[in-house]
Amino acid sequence: QQQLQVLAPMAPVHCFPIIGSTNQFLLDRVSTLTSGECCLAESQTAGRGRRGKPWVSPFGCQLLLSMYWRLEQGMAAAMGLSLAVGVAVVQALTSLGYPGVELKWPNDLYYQGRKLAGILVEMSGSAGASCNLVIGVGLNLAMPQQEGVRIDQAWAELRHINPELVDRNQLAARTMIYLQQAMQTFEQSGLTSFVAAWNQLDHFAGRPVRLLMGDQEIRGVARGIDDRGALRLETDEGIKYYLGGEISLRRG
Ligand code: BTN
Repeated sequence: QQQLQVLAPMAPVHCFPIIGSTNQFLLDRVSTLTSGECCLAESQTAGRGRRGKPWVSPFGCQLLLSMYWRLEQGMAAAMGLSLAVGVAVVQALTSLGYPGVELKWPNDLYYQGRKLAGILVEMSGSAGASCNLVIGVGLNLAMPQQEGVRIDQAWAELRHINPELVDRNQLAARTMIYLQQAMQTFEQSGLTSFVAAWNQLDHFAGRPVRLLMGDQEIRGVARGIDDRGALRLETDEGIKYYLGGEISLRRG
């Protein structure tokens, strides 16, 4: 098992039984926060996902975690950050006895072809040259079976991987430590140190996929990411590169 090394003392962790959004809680306070400061909640009434979608967050069913980070190099340097975050969260889960978790470009954790967790990185007005980042993770532990929980796709849960769920405090603590270490690495050397690990965890590697961009659908074979975090797609016209934004990826 990888040796854990906490390079700096953990910053404060704000915990709530119920909150609007853990990301929003931190975004509202960026001027008062220190890097690594976190917000945890048992449920969210206005949880949000990528591309303006709501994030369904029933009480006690998920790890709902946000971490603040001030990136001294500024906004441009944050490109590809969510990919590094994905690697960090998978590594945290592996270290706790949850093997087989994969990554789906750009920001999802997958288990056996189903979404296990989502990542949402948000930025707020830059303070001088630096920029304020909030990294949000929503990870399914054991979702309720009841009606009224409307999620638009099949999902996976940690209890599917290992029915003996680890203590949630341990899960939260381990994820925060891995995230903090990943951010320190990312700050020093950018995405480069995460690319090989990301490609190893790629759910779609070598598989036919459809890339949806607005009305456009592009077909090809997924060939991992490059050093910028761009998706490499092998199409009939050769390799094409796609960088985040309003793009989603489906099985071909
Ligand atoms: C996605 O897959 O669309 C990203 C989902 C991110 C959800 C998490 S839950 C904790 C944090 N607070 C939010 O409002 N969103 C993120």
